[in-house]
Amino acid sequence: MQQTAGTGIQRSVVKTLDGTLGKRALITGASSGLGLEFAELLAAQKVNLVLAARRQEPMEKLAVELRRKHGVDIVVEPIDLATPGAAARLKSNLDGRSIQIDILVNNAGYGLHGEFLETPLDRTTDMIQLNIMALTELSYVFGRDMAARGSGHILLLASLLALQPVPTFAAYAATKSFVLAFGEALHDELRPQGVVVTSLCPGHTETGFDAAAGAPVSPMLRLLTMKPRPVAESGLRALSQGKASVIAGFMNNIIAFSNRLTPRSMQRATLKRILG
Ligand SMILES: NC(=O)c1ccc[n+]([C@@H]2O[C@H](COP(=O)([O-])OP(=O)(O)OC[C@H]3O[C@@H](n4cnc5c(N)ncnc54)[C@H](OP(=O)(O)O)[C@@H]3O)[C@@H](O)[C@H]2O)c1
Repeated sequence: MQQTAGTGIQRSVVKTLDGTLGKRALITGASSGLGLEFAELLAAQKVNLVLAARRQEPMEKLAVELRRKHGVDIVVEPIDLATPGAAARLKSNLDGRSIQIDILVNNAGYGLHGEFLETPLDRTTDMIQLNIMALTELSYVFGRDMAARGSGHILLLASLLALQPVPTFAAYAATKSFVLAFGEALHDELRPQGVVVTSLCPGHTETGFDAAAGAPVSPMLRLLTMKPRPVAESGLRALSQGKASVIAGFMNNIIAFSNRLTPRSMQRATLKRILG
């Protein structure tokens, strides 16, 4: 059994994002997992898209399908966002083609499972570059334009692991703590300028994440696993409702709540058992 969310969520996403007609979203990490779902959901609402990730082929395939199904305009941008300055290059490339971004889905990211000292340092710093630096730079370059126009939406992909330290996911969980704290602070800073910033905290979700992280999936974790569609829906719904942050799924909300009542040493021990 998996955590699910009802179709009512999908209906409400469609309804609340109606005002996005003709707008354009940039979705990073659009070649797999949650990125594909964000693309499908936004295209279904007639939002034009820019898809960005390293692998061009799955994005081109998705673009063909979504153009045919929804008649939206889609630009595919193959890019390694973990290279320094990538966000600025992407922005000036889009500026050069007069492409304006109204919705930024800062989704590209990955985890690294294992002991910190056993993991080659360049893998950890590459992950930090993507999960923190690229996300921050993208929020800056596109957020400034949105603030100048007095409107815009930014969705940041944090994680349930942002809520506590996680042995065997030490650096990854810390990058997501950054994302959540950064996103909630930006929410308050940018709201008066007409820009909504929402941080989405998914729990374990069926995507390419485990393969990229090299992480085993314990039977208990399998029980808590969500499909990517309801996770993406809950993020877009929270964004359209102007929320600072949202945790996807009922069970993940229970976990987050019980976390608050638990000493941090116990939180670490429990997560090590589930994820280690
Ligand atoms: N799945 C989960 O359990 C879970 C839980 C909490 C949070 N999250 C977060 O959700 C987000 C989406 O991940 P996912 O679960 O959908 O995993 P996924 O299926 O592995 O997707 C990750 C995406 O990030 C892109 N990406 C990775 N490195 C990149 C780079 N250097 N430059 C540009 N794009 C890059 C990948 O595309 P390319 O390989 O083509 O570049 C892919 O499209 C991540 O931020 C992740 O941390 C996931």
